[in-house]
Amino acid sequence: MLKTIKDTASFIKTQISINPDVGIILGTGLGGLADEIENPQILDYDKIPNFPVSTVEGHHGKLIFGELAGKNVVAMKGRFHFYEGYDMQQVIFPVRVMRELGVKHLFVSNASGGVNPNFEIGDLMIITDHINLLPNALLGKHYPEYGARFVDMSQAYSPDLIKKAKIIAQELKIHVQEGVYTATTGPTFETPSEYKYFRIIGSDTVGMSTVPEVIAARQMGIPCFAMSIITDLGVPGKIVEISHEDVQAVASKAEKKMTKIFKRLIEDL
Ligand code: HPA
Repeated sequence: MLKTIKDTASFIKTQISINPDVGIILGTGLGGLADEIENPQILDYDKIPNFPVSTVEGHHGKLIFGELAGKNVVAMKGRFHFYEGYDMQQVIFPVRVMRELGVKHLFVSNASGGVNPNFEIGDLMIITDHINLLPNALLGKHYPEYGARFVDMSQAYSPDLIKKAKIIAQELKIHVQEGVYTATTGPTFETPSEYKYFRIIGSDTVGMSTVPEVIAARQMGIPCFAMSIITDLGVPGKIVEISHEDVQAVASKAEKKMTKIFKRLIEDL
């Protein structure tokens, strides 16, 4: 595993002349931020040795290097989900490669279903904490090179970045919610009873991603910031039939606001 990660990072370094400081993972329907990356240098996942290939519609499968808000970044347009059949080692592989490339901060976006009754479709939520109902990404052989066997999760999402993001949102007059993201395997959306259960255990939203990458980053000591776009509601009386297309449509409408917050936060790093 270690060698594959190092080999992949070495290959990327032969292709790309940018040393990224910030890693960004773009969720479903949220690829628009990538268009704002200046002087881009792009690698398709299928051209990168050992890189998994994304299979979901709306996930494009490109690693985009360049400048954003004056910082060197690498953005994943398209991520790997457990529900696609990848094992957790594959899901977190790109984050470990990012670290090998020098990334010091991780920014993550996703689409999710709101279970907090105060949320509306299209709302943005700063993730302050998570509940992991996916298999833990660090199960199995321990690689001390990546950090501790038993990783502290008391500050999975950087309190400092959360604080700054709230100030930025206020300055930009962008309404943001904050709360707990629960990760589940999918690929089914939830039944009304499952949404109710997620609310009872302390969730504000539920989705199928983000947590494995954040866990991998935290093991390596990388501070994380994540935002979710509420694309549907799992709130009694407001539950309607949803599809992946609905999720993409709402996400791409709301993403401009999220991009503004990400950019300002990255600028201020
Ligand atoms: N549930 C799980 N994942 C999701 C949802 C949802 O309601 N919406 C977008 N991703």
